Amino acid sequence: MKDLKAKILKGSLPNHIAIIMDGNGRWAKSKGKPRVFGHKNGVTSVKEIIEGCAEIGVNYLTLYAFSTENWNRPKLEVKTLMALLVSSLKKELKTLQENNIKLNTIGTIHNLPERAQKELADVIEKTKNNNRLTLTLALSYGSREEIVNVIKKISKKVVNKQLGLEEINEKIINNHLYTFSLPDVDFMIRTSGEKRISNFLLWQIAYAELYFTNTLWPDFRKENLFNAIFEYQNRERRFGKTSEQIEKLNE
Ligand code: IPE
Ligand code: IPE
Ligand code: MG
Repeated sequence: MKDLKAKILKGSLPNHIAIIMDGNGRWAKSKGKPRVFGHKNGVTSVKEIIEGCAEIGVNYLTLYAFSTENWNRPKLEVKTLMALLVSSLKKELKTLQENNIKLNTIGTIHNLPERAQKELADVIEKTKNNNRLTLTLALSYGSREEIVNVIKKISKKVVNKQLGLEEINEKIINNHLYTFSLPDVDFMIRTSGEKRISNFLLWQIAYAELYFTNTLWPDFRKENLFNAIFEYQNRERRFGKTSEQIEKLNE
């Protein structure tokens, strides 16, 4: 793993990594355990991946922890996920502080249980001056809902004459997304073998490199992350240009 780390540190790192942490339920099922056992073990992966990103110098990490659609899961599962969120935040505050990590959230946080909201607000406040890595948790997050909200906010400004119709551009839209303070996603990872985006950061991944792995989230470790980043570094991001143009830029 040391070699792998040394190898990736030579290339350019993705500035912003987003991860769809999927496969907890299947992981538990394969062990004959209830789904929530998978969620509990998924927390270890979360810790490892945050640590791995901080270690190599990734600036932004965004984790899909709970989607707007996940509210439709069995009540007990939702309850367990929320309780896990609260207990993990409590436990990890110290590690976030020690590693200079700033916590941020995206999604309709007001829909979360009171206790989760309180715990999040507390950790966000206490880590607000940290600047090594910005960790964003997507909680009760849905990209379409986010975009609907953007349209409402912008329309209101137009109606109130705070903003002219002609002034609306990509930057204005960016500034009204939940992710207004984050750069575009460079690299999106999904675990568990599913090859879909499931309503995550649709606008923000316009030019992200996508990476799908069969590894289930509770098995995803630093080494898997570093392997994924190594693959990212060996891709050519062309942004619509030709390969020759990109090569010239890199000369
Ligand atoms: C991801 O694992 C965690 C959440 C969506 C909260 P899943 O719970 O979706 O696990 P699978 O996909 O059913 O295996
Ligand atoms: C996406 O996983 C949401 C999170 C990882 C939080 P799901 O397991 O909910 O996605 P689908 O339903 O398989 O698309
Ligand atoms: Mg799933």
